[in-house]
This record gives sequence, C-alpha cells and structure tokens, in this order.
Amino acid sequence: MASSHGLSIGYLAERTGLAVSAIRYYEAQGLLEPWRNAGGQRRFHRADLRRLSFVMIAQKFGFTLPEIREQLSSLPGNRTPTKEDWARLSEGFRVHLDARIATLEKLRNDLDGCIGCGCLSLPSCALYNAGDRAAKKGQGPRYLMGDSPGT
Ligand code: FES
Repeated sequence: MASSHGLSIGYLAERTGLAVSAIRYYEAQGLLEPWRNAGGQRRFHRADLRRLSFVMIAQKFGFTLPEIREQLSSLPGNRTPTKEDWARLSEGFRVHLDARIATLEKLRNDLDGCIGCGCLSLPSCALYNAGDRAAKKGQGPRYLMGDSPGT
C-alpha cells in the first residue's frame, strides 16, 4: 500500500514486477533501507521504486550487486534523489558498456584466429585456459587483458 507512512513491500512488488522475496534479498544486500512502523512492518521510501528500477537495469548491464550498492552509495543521503542524480549515475552504464564491448571484440578477434587454426593447443591457444593457468597471472580475464598464454 502507498501512503504518507511509506510503501509496503507488496506495493513495491506490484509496481516493479519483482517478487517480494527478491526485494527482501536486495534489502539484505544493502540496496534498500526500509524502516519499521509501529506495527513492526517494513516501510519503504517512494524513491525506492526508482532505486529498484536502477538495480534491475544495472543488472542487465552486467553489474554485480556489490557494484550496484557502491553506485547507490553515491546518491545524496540527506534528501530524495532527483532525476538529475539518477541521470548522473546512469552515465556509468555507458562507460561500462563500452568496456564490455571492447572485451567482447578482443574475444571475437581471438576466436577468428582459432577458427582457421583448430589446434586447440594447451600452451598457445588464447581461448583455452586449462587448469586455470591464467589465474597465476593475476585477477581478471588475463588473456583478454593482454597477457599471453605462452609466458
Ligand atoms: S585453436 Fe589454435 S590457437 Fe586457438
């Protein structure tokens, strides 16, 4: 229910299309901060509707929940976020998407080399990473970051 006393979790679920359990999970992950009314029921801010929209969109862009939580932490805590606040936050989507496209293009180029090869060589094929040897080179997708499997 929507009222001046905050929104119920059922109302949030109805408006966003999310399951109540999903909203509880997001709350447990620190993405929402409801309060309890005198009856002990969770109450959410109206701005949480937009907050949940942001979470759903950010997940589509491949952000993890900890990353989304970090982004949300930059919103002003002393007032309801404005449209401009959300627009600023959404600019990060573009940067993230460009980086993902660059990574996928690199992967596609590696794949093009392999399509004509077919060796599936353990020491030299960029697409093969037996025993997670790349992990010894550091965190992240090492071969896509420029490391060579042969070194
Ligand atoms: S299949 Fe030969 S280098 Fe990948």
